[in-house]
Amino acid sequence: TRVLSVTSECVPLVKTGGLADVAGALPAALAGQGVEMRTLLPGYPAVLAAQADADPVRQIPDLFGGPARILRGSLGGTVLYILDAPHLYARDGGLYLAPDGKDWPDNPQRFAALCKAAALIGAEGVDGWRPRALHLHDWQAGLAPVYLRQLGVQDVRCLLTIHNIAFQGIAPAHLLGALGLPAQLFNPQGFEYWGKISALKAGIVFADKVSTVSPTYAEELLTPEFGMGMEGVLAARSADFTGILNGIDLDAWTPPYQTPAGKAPLRKALRTEFGLPESDGPLCVVVSRLTGQKGLDLLIEALPVLLDGGGQLAVLGSGDAGLEIAFRDAAARHPGVGLRLGYDEALARRMIAGGDAILVPSRFEPCGLTQLYGLRFGTLPLVALTGGLADTVVNASAAALAAGVATGVQFHPVTVQALSRALSRLCALWRQPAVWDRMARNAMAQPVGWDASAGAYADLFRAMTA
Ligand code: ADP
Ligand code: GLC
Repeated sequence: TRVLSVTSECVPLVKTGGLADVAGALPAALAGQGVEMRTLLPGYPAVLAAQADADPVRQIPDLFGGPARILRGSLGGTVLYILDAPHLYARDGGLYLAPDGKDWPDNPQRFAALCKAAALIGAEGVDGWRPRALHLHDWQAGLAPVYLRQLGVQDVRCLLTIHNIAFQGIAPAHLLGALGLPAQLFNPQGFEYWGKISALKAGIVFADKVSTVSPTYAEELLTPEFGMGMEGVLAARSADFTGILNGIDLDAWTPPYQTPAGKAPLRKALRTEFGLPESDGPLCVVVSRLTGQKGLDLLIEALPVLLDGGGQLAVLGSGDAGLEIAFRDAAARHPGVGLRLGYDEALARRMIAGGDAILVPSRFEPCGLTQLYGLRFGTLPLVALTGGLADTVVNASAAALAAGVATGVQFHPVTVQALSRALSRLCALWRQPAVWDRMARNAMAQPVGWDASAGAYADLFRAMTA
């Protein structure tokens, strides 16, 4: 089955979050399952620079205000199509944010263009290759089924995967014309959302199938607490809606040790790197975007419990100014807290390898990848009981400990009190080295690769295109 993955980010080329890891890993994971997945990605400067040899395979004379080309490059062993449209992507700044920290004002056009190019490939093929299905990631790809309809294409199926419902691709109604969208679908049954255009809703309503990145998040999304206004729209698609858990790339994430004991020199080096004193408590790490989603404000409040229990904290992250300041204050106040603000892939790896526990106290978490890295590295995840965090960690309950199957600590509800209790449980587990070691070994043995889920995607694509 030929599938075109349509994504706004993809490792190793461009990344702001876990979507990039997933989009980057799936094509190779699916290759072993009889699915030929190729990828379509915007031609941001970093992508063009890394793919300087990419050859043009198609011209698009006018794509929302300027000429565009599709280039053929490569992604690991798979084919990458790059949408080169300088008027939309050739600029300094973030993928979604301008240097002033605000959304690029033309984001609706920038990602409508990605969708239009995907639809053109669906309609006519490119480079002698025509997909049977499109795999659409998040709102940035949500309009593709609308453009496919408009082009009269009936034999290309669409799967929309929701990585995060918080981002819905809302645009003002007056852009209908500029985006070339059919006015007759601008209604509550179509892609209208409270008088505006919603690219995410377009995807949910018009894709053949909809998925999200864990079974628990799939259930949560149908509730007002987590659905962020889309719960009703999703409920109407519930027969076609499933959760497929993310995996991680096991080759890219392999611990440099066989057993948890192998952490010792890495832990020591990590303490030195973060200026933390030697200690016989657990060294906890956080690698995260600093946003409300991640619940890290609660961690700052619960910090005394961790420190009193003998624990330490090393944080790597960037994001909201308020959270950056709060962590800076905490690091200045407590010798047991170290901080690096910024984005640093190599440091993230050293932290996950050298740390004893990884903390993910998210208010909501569609899947979460860092707890999976933690499992793989025997770095026990302490996580909120929500979304993919609920599906991937086995809480150290009395029963799980007795059965010898625990892999981490979960807490609920997502409050300072519950997180504090979880941190003191973590410290208590640490004081029982045999129990901790057993948990870390369980964690390392947990299957967190793509095998099972790549099979689930492959089955879905086959069923859709049969
Ligand atoms: P989300 O996509 O919501 O940010 P995930 O856990 O799915 O959450 O994915 C986050 C990804 O980004 C992981 O690969 C994580 O290691 C990485 N990451 C997040 N913040 C940083 C950072 N400051 N430096 C390096 N890597 C980071
Ligand atoms: C989103 C979610 C995260 C998930 C990632 C990849 O960014 O916030 O939970 O792991 O997408 O699917």
